[in-house]
Amino acid sequence: MEATIVLLPGDGIGPEVVGAARAVLEIVAGRFGHVFHMSEYPLGGCAIDLTGTALPADTLAACQSADAVLLGAVGGPKWDDPTARVRPEQGLLGLRKALDLFGNLRPVQLHPDLVGASPLRPERLVGVDLLVVRELTSDVYFGEPRLRRNVPKADGQGEEQQAIDTMSYTEGEIARAAHLAFQLARGRKHKVTSVDKANVLESSRLWRQVVTRVAKDYPDIMLEHILVDAAAMYLMSRPATFDVMVTGNLFGDILTDEASVLSGSMGNLPSASLGAEKNSLGKLRGLYEPIHGSAPDIAGKGIANPIGTILSSAMMLRYSFGLEAEASQVEKAVFNALSSGARTADLGGNLTTIAMTEKIYANL
Ligand code: IPM
Ligand code: MG
Repeated sequence: MEATIVLLPGDGIGPEVVGAARAVLEIVAGRFGHVFHMSEYPLGGCAIDLTGTALPADTLAACQSADAVLLGAVGGPKWDDPTARVRPEQGLLGLRKALDLFGNLRPVQLHPDLVGASPLRPERLVGVDLLVVRELTSDVYFGEPRLRRNVPKADGQGEEQQAIDTMSYTEGEIARAAHLAFQLARGRKHKVTSVDKANVLESSRLWRQVVTRVAKDYPDIMLEHILVDAAAMYLMSRPATFDVMVTGNLFGDILTDEASVLSGSMGNLPSASLGAEKNSLGKLRGLYEPIHGSAPDIAGKGIANPIGTILSSAMMLRYSFGLEAEASQVEKAVFNALSSGARTADLGGNLTTIAMTEKIYANL
């Protein structure tokens, strides 16, 4: 088959890990007789430097006509000034929104040989295999109004700044994320945990009502509701009891960084962001990215862990191209490379990004 892939290396370690995934995709193409047309476009800080905007029109147009998009990471200290008008993150958020990628899948699994790399006690990690479905195009990330204004100080002595963000959800936005979670649970352990803050937030009360309503269409799936503070605790105290966890954009952002600790390193974890729109192959158009950031502290050193991005490209093969056999080959190659002891620095080893990638494709 033939597919077009837009690569968005982005900032920091982004180009290094996307380079690794590109090499793996090229090998898969050769092995299985596919043609992947891959082209690179700027997004994030590098795009700001080049064009003054984090999501240039050419980049967006290329993503909109591609079958799938693979992203490294955006952001870095160079663009971190809180008073700046343009920020790298606007590129990523703008892209997710423009492509209407409302469902962010973040699977968390642990290779048995990496138990020692996680700070949790080994017995807590037995059986950890969860999938967070994070709603990605609404919530406080996009809610309006969003503004700063001057207000009188409480003591009446002059004015001070106030900043406002809005946490907002519509029934439709909640329902489509919930349907995705229930459908995915059918291919797994048939359990959905919905995470909210319904004891305080109106948007969470609506969330809980809509998820409960959607659950009626899935009588074969067990549904539980947990408050987000408790969920943060249970992720550490009994992580193996979770199957699919569905939650809003902000809670999902926070909980997936926490959950990544279970896998031994954040560098291991992939993600897929999906919408409803089909690509030229009749599959879902998607944006695939590791869940880690641009890691400016190690950028350019060639030591970043490429696994999160390589596993993201496996998710791309599965969800956007329908290439299940190829996807599981890539996943198996990563698993076997780890079994053979291959480790980057974040996992306690000393392999470079390139050496780790070679160990992975030696197992393909
Ligand atoms: C993530 C990141 C992004 C987010 C940032 C870079 C805007 O933390 O993908 O988890 O908050 O969604
Ligand atoms: Mg995050």
